[in-house]
Amino acid sequence: MSAHSANWQTVAPASELVPGQFLEFRLKEKAKEPAGMPLTGFAFLDGTTPRAYLNVCPHLGIELNWMPGRFMDSDNLFIQCSTHGALFKPGTGECIAGPCQGDALSTLDIRLHDGEVQVRVPD
Ligand code: FES
Repeated sequence: MSAHSANWQTVAPASELVPGQFLEFRLKEKAKEPAGMPLTGFAFLDGTTPRAYLNVCPHLGIELNWMPGRFMDSDNLFIQCSTHGALFKPGTGECIAGPCQGDALSTLDIRLHDGEVQVRVPD
């Protein structure tokens, strides 16, 4: 087992990763900047593909959502930041409109393993 595989963190049972639901979690790993800040993230199914991102808007570095589990725009097409309305593609995290256009959400590695949803901060 490599050192990196130890970094996987279970965030929910796999049965909770269902279409239309967003799982929110706090990562064990702390932010580097500002040092020691808790990092939060969210996971969801993009079609049938599990995706996970840090819950950090590239614009101001704050969490995207005000309401628990609510990340999508009213058309249910894009992830939307609730502060200034930036829109992000669910599949890539790329910001396609708003003050951070051209920037992107930070991707987390995600896997389904032993009936659990597991995530980790990429190297
Ligand atoms: S903080 Fe997200 S768009 Fe401004």
